[in-house]
Amino acid sequence: MIEDLVIPTHIGIIMDGNGRWAERRGLSRSMGHREGANTLKKICIYAEKLGVKYLSVYAFSTENFKRSKAEVDFLMKLCIEMFSNEFQEIIDHNVRVVFSGRREPLTKKVLKAMDEITEKTKNNTSLVLNICFNYGGQTELLDMTKKISSEVLKGNIQVENITLDTLSSYLYQDLPPLDFVIRTSGEQRLSNFMLYQASYAEFYFPEVLFPDFLENEFMEAIVEFNKRTRKFGGNV
Ligand code: IPE
Ligand code: IPE
Ligand code: MG
Repeated sequence: MIEDLVIPTHIGIIMDGNGRWAERRGLSRSMGHREGANTLKKICIYAEKLGVKYLSVYAFSTENFKRSKAEVDFLMKLCIEMFSNEFQEIIDHNVRVVFSGRREPLTKKVLKAMDEITEKTKNNTSLVLNICFNYGGQTELLDMTKKISSEVLKGNIQVENITLDTLSSYLYQDLPPLDFVIRTSGEQRLSNFMLYQASYAEFYFPEVLFPDFLENEFMEAIVEFNKRTRKFGGNV
């Protein structure tokens, strides 16, 4: 029974397999990314309906700049299009959009689209959609260290008062820990995704490629989560 399922508070999705989805159909990789973006919209709305509070999605890693200029340019253009026009349905579901990642070297146009959707949804109160864009987990920890060090040097923070809550508040977004990380396409690695936040997450690696990760697959993932026993170091 759906009503009996525990819904994870914070789910992370490493949206992998767009390229392979397209290649298997003889389409360009761009088509795979476009289909992946449509899937993201559907999954976000479904997650909100199920009562998920935080959904963090890996959309573009700091390492993804190693791809061809054509693919990077397409992904940037797609993001502008998504944030400016295509997300209206998500906004109508009262979703708040936030971003994690470095702003540099994103272009003014991309930043403007990101800032506009952040501003437009800032008072929304249902699911928080955290889009990891130009994001790297190691870079996030580096940026956190620099920010805290600078506050210590200014005398605003005492070293002995630094706690885990302090660390969390200097990450790109101050979110609860990840309960569940899903990576589609069968790859079993983090690829620099939310290293700090994933410390006690459950992991799930379905074979399905991200564009095909629709409502049924999402529900299967939730069912899988419900089979896990979380112990957090104790002896439950
Ligand atoms: C994930 O799909 C989307 C991004 C990294 C932007 P990929 O583009 O990595 O797809 P595969 O792994 O080549 O199939
Ligand atoms: C991770 O996928 C990044 C995103 C899904 C945005 P990649 O496809 O870039 O990761 P690797 O290169 O296979 O580790
Ligand atoms: Mg990939």
